[in-house]
Amino acid sequence: MRHLITLADLTSAEIERIFSIAEDLKSKFDRGLREPLLPGRVMALLFEKQSLRTRVSFEAGMAHLGGSSLFLGEDVGFGKRENMRDFGRVLGELVDVVVVRAKKHEVVVDLAEHCTCSVINGLTDRAHPCQALADLFTLRELFGKLAGRTLAWIGDGNNVARSLARGCGKVGMNMVMATPKGYRFDDATMTQLKREVPGLQLTVTDDPVAAVGDAVAVYTDVWASMGQEAEREKRCRDFARYQVNAELMSHAQKGTVFLHCLPARRGEEVTDEVIDSPQSVVIQEAGNRMHVQKGILAWLLGAQK
Ligand code: CP
Ligand code: NVA
Repeated sequence: MRHLITLADLTSAEIERIFSIAEDLKSKFDRGLREPLLPGRVMALLFEKQSLRTRVSFEAGMAHLGGSSLFLGEDVGFGKRENMRDFGRVLGELVDVVVVRAKKHEVVVDLAEHCTCSVINGLTDRAHPCQALADLFTLRELFGKLAGRTLAWIGDGNNVARSLARGCGKVGMNMVMATPKGYRFDDATMTQLKREVPGLQLTVTDDPVAAVGDAVAVYTDVWASMGQEAEREKRCRDFARYQVNAELMSHAQKGTVFLHCLPARRGEEVTDEVIDSPQSVVIQEAGNRMHVQKGILAWLLGAQK
């Protein structure tokens, strides 16, 4: 049984395979074709946090593939009515794949251990693998070959940054992080990255201007993620120098694009003038969530051609 909990679960060749299925399905979609590769398959969505993109892109994508989806709210009692082993084994009898958005990463790992169907991580406090795949797919559409190119991460060393680091390592991209001390990857994450993506060239700096210099893409995310609302004021102070604004983008090369997983807090980590500029590809990036997740579903459920 294959799961997608972090990008360590995929080889570089598997990522390329998912991209190639996604590319094919996207080009068909753009021509009005919706190939039903997964008729009768059922996907459950188990979400402990809010979501627009992840939920809607998975549900719409599964509909295009001829399958169906069940959004499981509070009333299934996830983590409350029964233990994870019973919950996972029962769910695995009933559906083909579960997408989970959980407050704690360990909950997704635990569910995958007990679930007899595939589990996809739809975001935890530690990882957001579907997001990073859509981001890399977007860069692949824009720049072709990714190996040797550089992505600049400006801001918090959070779930999205961790998944991008693994993703960059898998596709041969370099990553430069401009992140204040105290918000960088912890030692455990660095050790994990060294083991999982030994080829990753990761540079960490506290200088956003230096970080964007060689980058084909400048990426940022909110300074306080879901669950960190109580730290918002302190984080806004600590990250004040790390805003992606027109002045910072003026230090990037011509042709460098701006990425953000969204939702954005405009005026904090990014200004309107950057997110609404011609350099910004955030809407293409959000749309690609659906195309890439269709690739993931088709690949994971064994329906790829
Ligand atoms: N980028 C992302 O995962 O968005 P949602 O939180 O809306 O799903
Ligand atoms: N880092 C953000 C990403 C949202 C898609 C969060 O976890 O809230």
